[in-house]
Amino acid sequence: MQKIFYPQLRIRNKSCLPIVQGGMGVGVSASRLAGNVARLGAVGAISSVDLRRHHPDLMEKTVRSRDKDLINQINNVALDREIKRAKELSQGNGMVAVNIMRAVSEYAGYVRQSCESGADAVVVGAGLPLDLPELTAEFPDVALIPILSDARGIALVLKKWMRKNRLPDAIVIENPQFAAGHLGAAKLEEVNAPHFAFEIVLEATLELLKEMGIESEKIPLIAAGGVNHPDQVRKLFSLGASAVQLGTAFAVTEEGDAHVNFKNVLAQAVPEQIVTFMSVAGLPARAVRTPFLDKYLKKEAKLQEVAKPRKCTVGFDCLHQCGLRDGIAKAGQFCIDQQLAFALEGDVKRGLFFRGSEKLPFGSEIRPVRDLVEYLLEGVRLSIGQQEETQTA
Ligand SMILES: Cc1cc2nc3c(=O)[nH]c(=O)nc-3n(C[C@H](O)[C@H](O)[C@H](O)COP(=O)(O)O)c2cc1C
Ligand code: SF4
Repeated sequence: MQKIFYPQLRIRNKSCLPIVQGGMGVGVSASRLAGNVARLGAVGAISSVDLRRHHPDLMEKTVRSRDKDLINQINNVALDREIKRAKELSQGNGMVAVNIMRAVSEYAGYVRQSCESGADAVVVGAGLPLDLPELTAEFPDVALIPILSDARGIALVLKKWMRKNRLPDAIVIENPQFAAGHLGAAKLEEVNAPHFAFEIVLEATLELLKEMGIESEKIPLIAAGGVNHPDQVRKLFSLGASAVQLGTAFAVTEEGDAHVNFKNVLAQAVPEQIVTFMSVAGLPARAVRTPFLDKYLKKEAKLQEVAKPRKCTVGFDCLHQCGLRDGIAKAGQFCIDQQLAFALEGDVKRGLFFRGSEKLPFGSEIRPVRDLVEYLLEGVRLSIGQQEETQTA
């Protein structure tokens, strides 16, 4: 058989396949998906947000509660269970990371719980994680991975972290033109800006690392957003990326933790149905225009006109700053926690279904994670936890 040469992704003292499964909330990437991806030798990520929804016993304790502290405490129990289950599933292979949004109010608590429960890495997006080094100071073995979209954001994080004697263990570069969920552009009009192109950001970042005198540290750069073909993976490696991160394509795998209706909505969406809009978190987002989103977008302008501060819909105050609760007119005016939870359960009418803009590698098919990883690595055959047919370049 032809041997295919791929660089191994080295993060702290671990060596993995150069494929990263992006964290996906609410509950779309939990232990089953992350654990199975890691078992193949790649990087799996659990999304930390509201994981109690995968645990009926925990849900029962909080479903009618408006006690924020109780909900947070219960969510940490769920996060602990999910990390331990994913680690068990991984059989010691690959990495199990936890994705935490900077914009959630319990960000620091989730970071701490992830470290205490044995996550190999914390991956932080939706905001600048300037304080991550001090939050994790007691856990030096946990890899720290920010998600950023341009060289300016990367420079900011690097400068701040270097003053604390810490460097990122890898950096995810997510292109808002293609990615799913919350996007790393300040405004809707900027989502497709040419300066987010991988060619430009990778080149500028490599230059920046040189200028800052940290080129020799070989911080892996992970390209995310719209990756769907092995040729693209090879091209990104040639531009200086050390790995690729995919979200949508992993969400629709057999092992994806969401309901099968969720997977079908994503997999069967046609390009005209995929839209960008302002999320309650105050960031642009990309999703499928399903009945909820269609209805919402038709009345968005009116809702924004009458926006005013109110109580959190579910008493959980999931976001640090929420357009609906805080009455921020330019942000979204819906409860993202509720809509994402409906999607997770497969409620096609009421759910909010985040999705990237590009075609999926297997069209509308739902296939195992192994097929996806093998496809991206150009037909490399993987046996669980063994990478004998991939070689270190
Ligand atoms: C359903 C869904 C939920 C997502 N939720 C999160 C999230 O909670 N935090 C995050 O950093 N990224 C999130 N993402 C983004 C992915 O982690 C990934 O970076 C992105 O989807 C890559 O683009 P792609 O979908 O074109 O592969 C989500 C993506 C999807 C499809
Ligand atoms: S209203 Fe919904 S989206 Fe806003 S903070 Fe409360 S739970 Fe989160």
